Amino acid sequence: MSQWPEWLPLVDRLSGLAPYGAPQVPAQATLNTNENPYSLSPELSQAIAARIQESALHLNRYPDRDANVLRAGLASFINSQSSTTFSAENIWAANGSNEIIQSLFLAFGNSGAIGFTPSYSMHPLIARVIGCQWRNGSRRQDFSLDIEVAKREISESAPTLTFITTPNNPTGSSLSIEEILDLAKVCPGLLVVDEAYAEFSDEQSAVTLIAANPKIVVIRTMSKAFSFAGARVGYLVADPAVISALFLVRLPYHLSSITQAAAEVALEHQDELLANVDRLIAAREKLRIALVGLGLTVTPSKANFLLFSGFDIPAPELWQKLLDKGVLIRDVGLSAHLRVTVGSEAENELFIKALTSILR
Ligand SMILES: Cc1ncc(COP(=O)(O)O)c(C=O)c1O
Repeated sequence: MSQWPEWLPLVDRLSGLAPYGAPQVPAQATLNTNENPYSLSPELSQAIAARIQESALHLNRYPDRDANVLRAGLASFINSQSSTTFSAENIWAANGSNEIIQSLFLAFGNSGAIGFTPSYSMHPLIARVIGCQWRNGSRRQDFSLDIEVAKREISESAPTLTFITTPNNPTGSSLSIEEILDLAKVCPGLLVVDEAYAEFSDEQSAVTLIAANPKIVVIRTMSKAFSFAGARVGYLVADPAVISALFLVRLPYHLSSITQAAAEVALEHQDELLANVDRLIAAREKLRIALVGLGLTVTPSKANFLLFSGFDIPAPELWQKLLDKGVLIRDVGLSAHLRVTVGSEAENELFIKALTSILR
């Protein structure tokens, strides 16, 4: 709302904010929110429905407040991926990683936070909503992170929360494990590594650093690689002391028994769900080559999306022209750049065909 009514007792710090709002409009190819284009198999959807039906018999009761079974399942998943030895007490689960981010701010955001722009827009937005001072750290012209500059900016602002996103959204670029460790050394508070797209990357996960560096915490999600965005399950991997502190700010029974049941079944079928990750990585490369073939510049990406530039019409205009042709991508507000999610083969083809007809 551009003008709030005078009678509304809105908290002062919210009056200048705009809500998160990636357009949700019908399109033939929906390539704007980095979702996984592949839906669940009928068999898996059936298995989820059966488990939910079972849990529905007990909907008169509150869910397991601590989501113990789900957290143990998530710990096993991370251990299988990264050869770690986590248990449920290293994991916190919530309604999407956005809720995890909010909880981190509520528990630890008392002396300000820093992140390196452009990055995930919800980090600063949630900071502002809860009244935590946010500093925009800088990146190079090509959006890569200059570690020495970043270390200086962290030291100068002395935040309790330092955010890095790797692979980064919206650029797709990633940091090496050595770079993450280097940054951690200068963080006075927690170093929050947002790894929403980790499964699409061949870099070592920062979860492997936690045992020796309890001030590193890692955000993961089932929304992307797991094809589970609609279920809303995100999680944090961290030292047990961090997880215990999050119990102070979580709302009682925040994760419904239906969500927990669905996510437990999804984890039991992780091989099937993650089978499309390699397919999407191959499609990402094919899409990159097609964009370069159109004379465009593409930021190197280890995620399931590509940021591109080099077109000679304004980004909002190109975005609209693509939408007119049934292709919804994302204008992330970066001048002369647009971001496209890697979709199914058919969606990617439609996108390239539409883009070719507009640019040629
Ligand atoms: C870097 C990053 N972190 C977190 C999220 C939030 O994901 P979710 O709340 O679906 O887990 C996103 C979503 O796009 C993201 O790009």
